[in-house]
Amino acid sequence: MADIRRYAELASTNDALAALALSDAVEGIWIVADQQTSGRGRRGRIWHSPPGNLFCSTLVRQNPVDPPLQQMSFVAALALHETLVAYTGNIHLKWPNDLLVEGKKLSGILLEAGGAKENAHVIIGIGVNLAHYPEDVERPATSIAALTGAAPQPMDVVTRLAENFARWRANWGAHGFAAVRAAWLARATGVGQRIEVRLGQETLFGMFTGLDEAGALLLRLDSGVIRAVHAGDVYGI
Ligand code: BTN
Repeated sequence: MADIRRYAELASTNDALAALALSDAVEGIWIVADQQTSGRGRRGRIWHSPPGNLFCSTLVRQNPVDPPLQQMSFVAALALHETLVAYTGNIHLKWPNDLLVEGKKLSGILLEAGGAKENAHVIIGIGVNLAHYPEDVERPATSIAALTGAAPQPMDVVTRLAENFARWRANWGAHGFAAVRAAWLARATGVGQRIEVRLGQETLFGMFTGLDEAGALLLRLDSGVIRAVHAGDVYGI
């Protein structure tokens, strides 16, 4: 059984786990909050965190034989996909780590790296719209309740998620990124399509042709040049 610790309220499950990670918290721990007062998303965005949705974080410590920890976003997305298809179908993965249903965002993943050298670790924060979804966001969102008429209990979802994540993490640690990449691409949206990728100061257009061996998005620009994108926001899918 996973070590899942539930709190009525936290500022952010990522922050709570980051504090524990600096001491002796071991890989496999999960922190869950019924609500967050300062939930955050990628690129400094606010993550709306009302009771009824799932807000959780887990810790992965760098093992010397592991591939790079940044690939954990794909491992987490696969585990989350496997978990949520038990409740609703038609879920697709959007690079780098969103889950969408019919183009609407169902969940997001925030990876935050910490520690140095042998203490290197990553905190994986996961938010899932179970009962509610935000209306005032750039990308349309949805929830399990809106899709199916019923919201699962957050603790049931995180229990399944912890099991699925442990299996995908072990598979990745033992066999590397190739199988994770293939599984991710098989569930992805936008591959083979023309997309827009917004970087900090630059916007690129091109065909999404796949992922490289590190997990970067491969974009074939109109010039024919293939560009590997390591961080950015994808639009047009
Ligand atoms: C995204 O921008 O799509 C990522 C959203 C990640 C939200 C989760 S909720 C649990 C964890 N704690 C946070 O403050 N953020 C992550």
